[in-house]
Amino acid sequence: MKRQPRSSPRSAKPLRTVSIIGTGSYVPEKVLTNADLSRMVDTSDDWITTRTGIKERRIAAKDETTSEMAAKAALRAIEQAKISAKEINLILVATATPDMLFPATACFVQKKIGATNAACLDISAACAGFLFGLEIAQQFITSHTHDTVLVIGAEKLTSITNWTDRNTCVLFGDGAGAAVLRHRGSAHGVISTHIGTDGHYTDILFMPGGGSRCPITRENVDLNLNTIHMIGKEVYKQAVTAMIRASKKALEQAGLSIHDIACVIPHQANLRIIEAIADRIGIPLEKFYVNLDRYGNTSAAAVAIALDEANRSGRIKPGDYILMVVFGAGLTWAGTVLEW
Ligand code: ACO
Repeated sequence: MKRQPRSSPRSAKPLRTVSIIGTGSYVPEKVLTNADLSRMVDTSDDWITTRTGIKERRIAAKDETTSEMAAKAALRAIEQAKISAKEINLILVATATPDMLFPATACFVQKKIGATNAACLDISAACAGFLFGLEIAQQFITSHTHDTVLVIGAEKLTSITNWTDRNTCVLFGDGAGAAVLRHRGSAHGVISTHIGTDGHYTDILFMPGGGSRCPITRENVDLNLNTIHMIGKEVYKQAVTAMIRASKKALEQAGLSIHDIACVIPHQANLRIIEAIADRIGIPLEKFYVNLDRYGNTSAAAVAIALDEANRSGRIKPGDYILMVVFGAGLTWAGTVLEW
């Protein structure tokens, strides 16, 4: 089906579409397997594999921060983009596990990579953050205010994991992925993005402690309020619904059908969620890029790492239409269609 070009509602200048000119990713060296976890809590490789598809995850070193992982992924993306870090005008870091509540993790990344000409801010949209970042980057670039934007998804989820709660500790891992965006070159263009939120579900996936509502105290830490809380079954249900809706909206906005899509890069939370989406949306499971067996759920980093792996391994090829679709706490969701 032929795409209808979008017009720019706010600018007299022609709309500049946006390209991803480099991707990069980083995962920590340390591997924690399901067998390792079964020695820590009452679980088994069989339970984790059949319920989630996860076999192992990466764990950052104690002194390895979110910004360090983000910077390593960013430098790989910058190298592939063949630009200097000084050409970057804006750094957006999507994360639920910032180095500190403030300043923004993006500021630490700026210093580490020497992007001295960039404005920096973090995006708090949980697992949907990287695609929220792509949309924000696209808006800055198409409105001609910024030329080159670095978008990063980075998480040290193991720093907010309750290692005594088998319901959650088996699911998460650490890592970072990055993309450099610029006004359209010859390929790898962002065609459409749909982002959305429903604040009625803030109580199914959240970390209660550490913010203004429940500041850190000794008692709160004793109650594990500084760790991830989740109602797994409800999250599962909402994830499937939201990701199907986001996929449909992004495709519709792009003027494409499911048959045009060569590869789907979904949020890497649970293989059963991905299978349900494949089934209900009508795209064969073989078209979905899956790496959660190796990394678990790395929240905002997940699709960014997967995009980089699909790019570098040749799984996505020039001319392919790619659907990225994510879901996270908030609830937040997003779908993006790329032409590679
Ligand atoms: N090992 C063994 N048993 C377990 C484990 C475990 N790791 N975790 C839970 N169980 C037990 C439960 O205690 C329960 O036992 P009970 O029946 O005696 O009470 C039983 O297994 C079934 O538990 P359920 O919660 O019903 O299991 P379910 O089939 O729903 O699977 C899961 C749980 C995997 C968490 C699933 O609900 C899920 O994937 N939800 C989505 C989670 C998710 O994706 N979160 C993040 C998305 S957003 C983001 O990325 C931040």
